[in-house]
Amino acid sequence: MEREQLRILLDADTGIDDAVALVYLLSRPEVHLQAITCTGGNVDARQVAKNNLALLELCGRSDVEVALGAEQPLELKLRTTEETHGPQGLGYATLPAPARQLSERHAVEIWVDEVRAHPGEITGLVTGPLTNFALALREEPDLPLLLKGLVLMGGCFNYPGNTTPTAEWNVSVDPHAAKEVFAAYRGLPEEKLPVVCALETTERIELRPEHVRLLGEKAGSMPPEVMHPDQREGDRSSSDNPLVACLSDALRFYLEFHRRHGQGYVAHVHDAFAAAVAIGRAEFVAESATVEVETESPLLRGTTVADFGRHWDGKPNARIVMRNNPEQCFEELLGSIGAFARTLRLGATSDSRPPEQP
Ligand code: BDR
Ligand code: CA
Repeated sequence: MEREQLRILLDADTGIDDAVALVYLLSRPEVHLQAITCTGGNVDARQVAKNNLALLELCGRSDVEVALGAEQPLELKLRTTEETHGPQGLGYATLPAPARQLSERHAVEIWVDEVRAHPGEITGLVTGPLTNFALALREEPDLPLLLKGLVLMGGCFNYPGNTTPTAEWNVSVDPHAAKEVFAAYRGLPEEKLPVVCALETTERIELRPEHVRLLGEKAGSMPPEVMHPDQREGDRSSSDNPLVACLSDALRFYLEFHRRHGQGYVAHVHDAFAAAVAIGRAEFVAESATVEVETESPLLRGTTVADFGRHWDGKPNARIVMRNNPEQCFEELLGSIGAFARTLRLGATSDSRPPEQP
């Protein structure tokens, strides 16, 4: 039976976990990646673009359009976080400079044009600050209705922030954009409301060294990917599989970052969970609520507040993921990326499509 194609338009600030999300999407045969648009966040937007192009080349997918987007947040000055994601955003992984050029279209043009050209067919996935999406909304206010759906990684609700005591990174980089986006979804039908993958559930997608070992096994990569906390910081993978080696080098940096911040030798792969949600392959339960974003107070800027108790009279503008299933999510991510990596080892072509997968 023909599998239904899922059109995904990805906006990312690639970033280690964005990279895992991207590779996971490439590994799914039913996913048609409409384009990737780049926003500044983890690293600046031009570096994000290089990372996306290089990852696509590594995966033999030079057919996917990559476009530059906003290089600065709507009102604030861009902050980046190389200490979290490494000097180029991919941890210890270094990929050859991409041969391919960026699209001539701007990110905003892509969002508006593609969604108008395929009304009701495209699911938007934003794994970075919402700058590009907010700019696209200014140009096409019907974007929420023209999209099939929207999945976001961002925010935290009744849960500590990872950037300030109360704010999550993506929202905190561009709180004004997040505010505009949530405002635009007020009063829309439930099925159109963005599914928000916030820290309280994405931090449960806690990658450990054994997950990297499993990835190597599933890819048939040699030697085994052994990672443990006592190894020297900055050790590199010697995998014979280029994709496994790249992800392993990237993730090792992310594990070390989390350990440095007192979270243990683990890495939260937030964006990979959001990607699995976007294509309907991650188990989760969501609850609708009205979300507001604080943009003014210096103390609370970037804080997201959800009115679960219906204290405000606003209509819900978001579906917030309340529960998820980390074990199922990792099985899905590692199984799918592993099977895909196995095909790359056998020789990538310039258009390497993923294998049939369950
Ligand atoms: C988010 O911030 C970024 O550092 C990650 O890529 C993720 O999208 C988590 O707060
Ligand atoms: Ca991200």
